[in-house]
Amino acid sequence: MMQLCVIPGDGIGHEVIPVAVSALQRLLPGLQTQTADAGWECFQRCGSSVPEATLEQLRATGAGLFGAVSSPARKVAGYRSAILTLRQQLGLHCNLRPVRSWPVISPRSGIDMLILRENSEGLYVGREHMESEDIAIAERQISRAACEQFAARIVEVAEQRSARRVTLVHKANVLPLTCGLFRDTCRQVLAAHGWETQVDERLVDVAALQLVESPNSFDVLATTNLFGDILSDLACYWSGGLGMAPSLNWGKGIALAEPVHGSAPDIAGTGRANPIAALLSAALLLRYHWQELELAARLDAAVEGFLVEAGAVDFADRTTEIIADGVISRL
Ligand code: NAI
Ligand code: MG
Repeated sequence: MMQLCVIPGDGIGHEVIPVAVSALQRLLPGLQTQTADAGWECFQRCGSSVPEATLEQLRATGAGLFGAVSSPARKVAGYRSAILTLRQQLGLHCNLRPVRSWPVISPRSGIDMLILRENSEGLYVGREHMESEDIAIAERQISRAACEQFAARIVEVAEQRSARRVTLVHKANVLPLTCGLFRDTCRQVLAAHGWETQVDERLVDVAALQLVESPNSFDVLATTNLFGDILSDLACYWSGGLGMAPSLNWGKGIALAEPVHGSAPDIAGTGRANPIAALLSAALLLRYHWQELELAARLDAAVEGFLVEAGAVDFADRTTEIIADGVISRL
């Protein structure tokens, strides 16, 4: 029996996640869902941004769909980022973000890349301290074990999509120990699986320029945590922006899908939220976690069909509803 833990979170998470759940229920009639709590509203209610019960539900179901959470802009005592907590506590060591051209909405056609980001360490281990009153230090951790685990995922997706090329992005000229270990370990694992000749590498600054200049030249791009965070947001411009960008946090036997966007307080409650990023996140659960390739393709095709038919129309305060109906009726 397939199970899904649904975590709407804050703001427009409450508006877009139910749309994605409806789509999954249409595609997987036996799907059992349960709802769990996380985020800023949850912290204010119960003093934790990710209650233990939520972690237990996710471990039990093995699959989660997460909306977005608000975060305070300044440090609040006791508050920890919900998504970082989930990634670390559940061992979601790989973050996967497809970037592709969509009809009507994308600024360019022919783009189809997959960005993989190491999701558990790098600068996001959050080890910051003041060395003196005037010097702040952040530590960046790269471990062979995490790189090996991550590289195994690169192999898996590269094989699944018959990739032409895997591009490793780093800054080993300035950070030879950390970035060097990342690059060399990934290369070793890829070579051991017969991918040696399809691997190339870029320095992160060059990669940023090329993502703007020649996005069609990328196929699978794999990088460390912070670089991946920045480059994948940059690249989602080509998909048509935040309303179109899905992601999957992926661990061993557990996955948490999540639209890239935040809680969008500026439009929450207005009906203007685009649910496509959430719908495409659900498609990532189907494709990579549940291995339901045909159902995933059907969901992607429903989004595509809707965009082609709808054209460049602004649905204003009926956006969520019209897109939801248009996509789900095509499944
Ligand atoms: P945001 O992604 O919430 O919004 C940025 C802009 O994009 C806003 O103008 C918003 O209206 C628009 N937008 C976002 N998603 C959209 C959608 N589905 N349809 C139409 N328009 C959409 O980022 P922002 O404003 O920087 O952050 C707002 C809150 O969200 C903050 O508290 C932040 O900490 C949190 N956040 C949470 C994330 C997460 O849960 N993974 C990621 C990014 C931000
Ligand atoms: Mg980000």
